[in-house]
Amino acid sequence: MGRIVLENVTKSFGDAEVIPPLDLTIEDGEFAVFVGPSGCGKSTLLRLIAGLEETTSGRILIDGEDVTEVSPSKRGLAMVFQTYALYPHMSVRKNIAFPLRMAKMEQGEIDAAVDRAASILNLGDYLEKRPGQLSGGQRQRVAIGRAIVRQPTAFLFDEPLSNLDAALRVGMRLEISELHERLKTTMIYVTHDQVEAMTMANKIVVLRAGHIEQVGSPLELYRTPRNLFVAGFIGSPTMNFITGEEAAKHGAQTIGIRPEHIAVSASEGTWTGKVGVAEHLGSDTFFYVHDTGLAETLTVRATGEVSFRNGDTIHMTPREDLLHRFDAAGERMA
Ligand SMILES: Nc1ncnc2c1ncn2[C@@H]1O[C@H](COP(=O)(O)OP(=O)(O)O)[C@@H](O)[C@H]1O
Ligand SMILES: [Mg+2]
Repeated sequence: MGRIVLENVTKSFGDAEVIPPLDLTIEDGEFAVFVGPSGCGKSTLLRLIAGLEETTSGRILIDGEDVTEVSPSKRGLAMVFQTYALYPHMSVRKNIAFPLRMAKMEQGEIDAAVDRAASILNLGDYLEKRPGQLSGGQRQRVAIGRAIVRQPTAFLFDEPLSNLDAALRVGMRLEISELHERLKTTMIYVTHDQVEAMTMANKIVVLRAGHIEQVGSPLELYRTPRNLFVAGFIGSPTMNFITGEEAAKHGAQTIGIRPEHIAVSASEGTWTGKVGVAEHLGSDTFFYVHDTGLAETLTVRATGEVSFRNGDTIHMTPREDLLHRFDAAGERMA
């Protein structure tokens, strides 16, 4: 089991309230992602759950038990950090076994647990190597292995892939998702990268300045962002925002339209502009359109190869049914 509940939790460092009163439930078996800009309190929230920071007020419950005052080692959680924190002088086997040795588990059981983790993570051939002989991705897998052998009630990941290059990140992202499929253990994963959040999460928690802006599945956030912040944060490239007369036509202060919800044409459309940069990726084409009278730049995404070039006139038609309307406070309108 691994149901985690935060009730009215706050955290201040001195006079600075980093987490204003916050309520959150993560169900057993969920893959929850905390996402938000740097400094918004993601790590602090994770560390509060882990017990590495004390709450200023409020309660934290794991499977119904109040653990607010319980030490980190007794919470049954395992944390994986961005810096792998491996022991350089120990073999991979010893690194993975470390928490079990600390717990004075019997050697035969330790070996079996390490072999099982190594097979899940494809580390079987590397068990006698030292961390220095491994790639960044392999080292991160060792750190995850060390978490797995503890059979925690939940895994806590703090930006575990940030030190890896882009291609490796995509691979590890998939591995962690597969690990979750396999273990079905609750995972809480912190990242500033909305693509990681969208691809990995069952439940995304969008944070800004310690405050929860929205909680929902990836597609709930994509389809119905509750406010301008979430609308601009989720989705890549980001949603276009249009104010002024065009928004007023829809009875809104601001309208939002995603780049993939605008159709392009050489001859006709609702809006007209001039193509600035055109990015031809083959699978997709992105146009950055100027002189529309709507916004500084409109970003448009077309599927496949579309042959507008820099300086071309382009006509654009938004999908009316997929327009997002926001009021003067930036809140979503029905
Ligand atoms: N130990 C600390 N002492 C004082 N301020 C801290 C401490 N840890 C974090 N903060 C502050 O709390 C805020 C949130 O930090 P953090 O949780 O690390 O953000 P994130 O992980 O989202 O980047 C930041 O303003 C940071 O400076
Ligand atoms: Mg952080």
